[in-house]
Amino acid sequence: MVQRTGNEINFAVLIAENGADVTTMSKPKKEHKMNETEQLSSRRSFFTLIWIGLGFVAFIEFIGIVTAFILPRKKRAKTGHFGAIIDVGTVDKFPKESVTAFIRGKFYLCRLKDGGFLAVSRQCTHLGCTVPWSDKEKKFVCPCHASAFDITGEVISPPAPRALDIYHLYIENNIVKVDTGRRVKRSGFHTDQVVYNKKA
Ligand code: FES
Repeated sequence: MVQRTGNEINFAVLIAENGADVTTMSKPKKEHKMNETEQLSSRRSFFTLIWIGLGFVAFIEFIGIVTAFILPRKKRAKTGHFGAIIDVGTVDKFPKESVTAFIRGKFYLCRLKDGGFLAVSRQCTHLGCTVPWSDKEKKFVCPCHASAFDITGEVISPPAPRALDIYHLYIENNIVKVDTGRRVKRSGFHTDQVVYNKKA
């Protein structure tokens, strides 16, 4: 039998106590570590979800932009608004030598003395101001630099360099239709620009 001194016994007790302490302290530490790992991985999944969401939103926006670019303008424009084909009414609704403004379509429907029609842009060809029709003076007078145009849109007073643009116009079943998606630039007025009702 081995006999231990007092010091040896104390030392053994100390080791036993420390050993016991080490075992009892290591459990919460492990749990703490596990919690940290779980938190880290849940944070990662959260950010991954955010990135996926943002990517999805960007993709939808991209599809929207591509679709808007590809679809023809006429289909996108609301009926009666600029960019669409606008039914302005029956031929008889417009007296000869009259000018009717279509605000949403951004044009004037001009009916000439001989019954022909022109859809004239309201935008001045000088610097783009909106040109009002003066029923009293029977001409368009630009408020910006005083260019003047007759009922056909022809320049009668500069600085406007050319006639007002016109829009493609046609008459179908006695109804006048203006395609505001088809704007025509012209240097001046020509009689072949005027549209007549075939029955007239
Ligand atoms: S913008 Fe019309 S005359 Fe200058």
